[in-house]
Amino acid sequence: MKIDIQYKENPQGKILDEENMGFGDTFTDHMFTMDYVEGKGWHNARITPYAPISLMPSAMGLHYGQTVFEGMKAYRRKDGKINLFRPLENFKRLNRSNERICIPKIDEEFLLKALTKLLQIDGGWVPHVKYKSLYIRPFIFATDPQLGLRPAKEFKLMIIMSPADTYYGRGLESIKIFVENEYVRAVRGGMGEAKTGGNYAGSLKSQIDAMEENYAQVLWLDGVERKYIEEVGAMNIFFVLDEKIITPQLNGSILPGITRKSSIELLRDEGYTVEEKRITMEEIAKAYDENRLTEIFGTGTAAVISPIGQLKWKDKVMKLGDMGGEVASLLYQKLTDLQWGDGKDEKNWIYTIPEE
Ligand code: PLP
Ligand code: COI
Repeated sequence: MKIDIQYKENPQGKILDEENMGFGDTFTDHMFTMDYVEGKGWHNARITPYAPISLMPSAMGLHYGQTVFEGMKAYRRKDGKINLFRPLENFKRLNRSNERICIPKIDEEFLLKALTKLLQIDGGWVPHVKYKSLYIRPFIFATDPQLGLRPAKEFKLMIIMSPADTYYGRGLESIKIFVENEYVRAVRGGMGEAKTGGNYAGSLKSQIDAMEENYAQVLWLDGVERKYIEEVGAMNIFFVLDEKIITPQLNGSILPGITRKSSIELLRDEGYTVEEKRITMEEIAKAYDENRLTEIFGTGTAAVISPIGQLKWKDKVMKLGDMGGEVASLLYQKLTDLQWGDGKDEKNWIYTIPEE
């Protein structure tokens, strides 16, 4: 499929302000769009200036939540080139989310080609300072203008990009997490392992409660017994306990994080024992009381590696220090060096945007 390009110089009258960057509030000059119609497939691929879009008020995605998204980042190397980290993993996960929400599959290689083109055009928006990056948001939503409940037959896929500072604290500064005991995020057989808007909408009430108590996000427990640890709002979770690293196993209700999968591999390469298994909050609290729990950290594209310095479960507050411990620090260094092109890419995880 050919990509139609409509270029416009500085369409929003905005420039990249590397000193004052937040997360997700400023967008680059251009966006990618393509449409789907049943019988015709994906078509009309185009890159156009970043601008509002028009939709019918009856567009199905607005009513029944048939939407999926991805989150990835572009990193500036010292030589000025731009790296992506395992981009095809994101597009494969997008297709797995599509499958769950009855959205037609996309051609993963084509989407990488489209993103490459978008970055060749808007690459100037990738920050030049290490640890700042350009957050990339591919997403798909149903556009059929009708209200009957059935899988949609028309969709739009878009990619927008936004310069991003770190999502939580600075680098390895610890964050505080609150264990949610009342609400649940997902159940096995539900759609927890898909990256779809509804999972995040359902999490907001807990997020507000956590923030009111000065906690950054919540840690979700399983939806049936509220006993087993699942994941945090925007990251997977790891514990260092008895010199071993433990993370909840993928069970259908947890998002299979690409940073999670990469971290497991990087840590095993460093000689650590990493176990993916069911783990209860009770086990964690007991290990904390017995001084066997040495670190907790989260992994995610937006979150990178975020040490958790305080975990509150019911009335119990577990404290693990203001900065990341040995494992989180090592992992943060390994991962960010790879992403920003300072480390040797032995696993072929890095895709460098070719010059035009
Ligand atoms: N869990 C949730 C709910 C997320 O939103 C994310 C972020 O995408 C993650 C985990 C981490 O996934 P990844 O490492 O692929 O960014
Ligand atoms: C991610 O892409 O890392 C996310 O989890 C998205 C987040 C901002 C909700």
